[in-house]
Amino acid sequence: MLGHTGDDMESLLSIDDLKEDLEKILQWAIVMKSDNEVALDFFPLDGMSIGSIYEKPSTRTRVSFEVGIDKLGGNSLTLLKGDIQLGKSESVADTANVLSRYLGGITYRCFSHDDVVELSANSSVPVINALSDKHHPCQAAADLMTIMEKKGTDKLKIAWVGDGNNVLHDLVLASAILGFDINWAIPKGYEPDEDVINRAKEIAAKTGSKLMETNDPIEAVKNADVVYTDVFVSMGEEHLKDKMSDFDGFQINDDLVSNAKEDYIFMHCLPAHRGEEVTDSVIDSKNSVVFDQAENRMWSQMSILTYLINRPAWDTYYEMLEINFN
Ligand code: CP
Ligand code: NVA
Repeated sequence: MLGHTGDDMESLLSIDDLKEDLEKILQWAIVMKSDNEVALDFFPLDGMSIGSIYEKPSTRTRVSFEVGIDKLGGNSLTLLKGDIQLGKSESVADTANVLSRYLGGITYRCFSHDDVVELSANSSVPVINALSDKHHPCQAAADLMTIMEKKGTDKLKIAWVGDGNNVLHDLVLASAILGFDINWAIPKGYEPDEDVINRAKEIAAKTGSKLMETNDPIEAVKNADVVYTDVFVSMGEEHLKDKMSDFDGFQINDDLVSNAKEDYIFMHCLPAHRGEEVTDSVIDSKNSVVFDQAENRMWSQMSILTYLINRPAWDTYYEMLEINFN
């Protein structure tokens, strides 16, 4: 099998692309993780190659995709930007057209979100955004899977403290889709993009999720079930190192988390800059689930890959698992 087997080609550029199927995709990931024997006895990517282009470094995304694709029976090709023609003598559009002739799907970690949009527009196979400057949908999928695993699906309060960045964008959208309340505390001038928040508000109006922005970390964290942060300076922003001083008071430390519920969980997409956005005492505490999050990148991406690339297999397995596990 060369290409994907769904009727309509779909890509994952932001978590919003999975819409109301997000919860099912995550449930299925949880089942796969917990019951290897039943759920991993099939190979929906058998005979297919998935290519992954990286313009920026990666540990979790790269390894979790490579291993996950392997477990699904596929073959993964990692294409580092320095080694391919993209960005030197070939456009994003031509790269998409060429790679679509060989691959069943493409994952792309890029600087500009416009580039992954263009890759998808010119590709005849599904494209998965493996992090852009605007969105990180695979991270949000793993984050919500982790929250569901640790806290269930009842109403929860999620608190973000830090930069209004790519990870926050998809976390807000995913929380809105699943009906969780989310507060984000951001220093003035670093707010998330208005178009993303407006879209999240539209979704939240249907699901009952409450969204709130503040500049006060204590207000955000008060009675929170989940406390989340990310680096203050993202990849590609190294020239903005001076922005660090604007984040004084936004570090997740013991004082701040004393405002959260006693059984709160601490989350971080990693890599963490210990001593900057989070102290060792918090990230190494019993409340921290950061390595579960990292593991869940693989399971949730395996579910997403199957969903996007071999929908008939995904439908069959989801139905079977509902019968077996519900
Ligand atoms: N969280 C995350 O995307 O990590 P990597 O940059 O290591 O892939
Ligand atoms: N916001 C961070 C996330 C890294 C996984 C970045 O874009 O560098």
